[in-house]
Amino acid sequence: MNKLNGNVALVTGAGRGIGAAIALSYARAGANLVITDLDEANARAVAEQVRALGVASEVFAGDVSDPAQSAAMVARAAERFGRLDVLVNNAGVIRVRSLLDTTPADWDFIQAVNARGLFFALQAGARQMLTQSSIAEGRPSGKIINIASIAGRNGRPMLSAYAASKAAVISITQAAAQEFAPNLTVNAICPGAVGTDMWTQIDREWSALRQVPLGTVWQERVRGVPMKRAQTVADLTGMAVFLASAEADFITGQSYNVDGGLVMS
Ligand SMILES: NC(=O)c1ccc[n+]([C@@H]2O[C@H](COP(=O)([O-])OP(=O)(O)OC[C@H]3O[C@@H](n4cnc5c(N)ncnc54)[C@H](O)[C@@H]3O)[C@@H](O)[C@H]2O)c1
Repeated sequence: MNKLNGNVALVTGAGRGIGAAIALSYARAGANLVITDLDEANARAVAEQVRALGVASEVFAGDVSDPAQSAAMVARAAERFGRLDVLVNNAGVIRVRSLLDTTPADWDFIQAVNARGLFFALQAGARQMLTQSSIAEGRPSGKIINIASIAGRNGRPMLSAYAASKAAVISITQAAAQEFAPNLTVNAICPGAVGTDMWTQIDREWSALRQVPLGTVWQERVRGVPMKRAQTVADLTGMAVFLASAEADFITGQSYNVDGGLVMS
């Protein structure tokens, strides 16, 4: 069964990693895709893979830290496909810094994308969704899925600015869910430690600060996972498809940990 047949989904930061995996899982579920990323070449490559799955795709190269570009990316979806059913706010950035070494520039860089950028991308998506008809009879008119993090559940040493940005995502999710019910659902996914380029960066920066060999921080993190293996992007797509589907139409304002049991709350 194609759970997202004919839906239009836009995924930010879809040029690689978690965003690319979610975009491809939506394409496999029958959705047409708008692939957006700062990195246009990566976005184009993912859009090719999406088309190879037999659905349509559009590319938008843009920066979600600029609200005008987020509004333009949503407008592109509406121009090309006439509506936007599912928005996945996935684009995110990180820097590993002790709290004392975190500069105003570090703080601003992270919040500009993860919190402020997500907020205005969500606003742009909601504006479009609230003006369109429901996805199908008796259903909401749109679904927003924010990619937070288990780091948003509680403060994290060396990741204080990042954890704060992800706590903001959980809060924005709850506020938006209340403001937009019953017309839209708004939920979040909190991944654990996923083997993507972002974790390669975390491991590189953190291992350097601790003066331990590359790979040490990642291996330590994986050893602490109750499910006893590293998390992959494929571990996240089931929840992403579910939240976008009709099966989750009565779920809103929730943030789900998908992390192999690292955080149980
Ligand atoms: N990897 C993990 O362990 C992990 C854990 C928890 C949460 N997350 C979150 O999941 C999301 C995806 O992470 P990932 O691991 O795939 O990261 P990644 O670094 O591999 O990919 C992020 C993508 O976002 C794009 N991007 C960055 N800044 C952007 C901007 N300003 N505008 C548009 N695109 C931008 C990048 O070009 C890249 O393609 C992020 O929000 C991240 O915080 C990741």
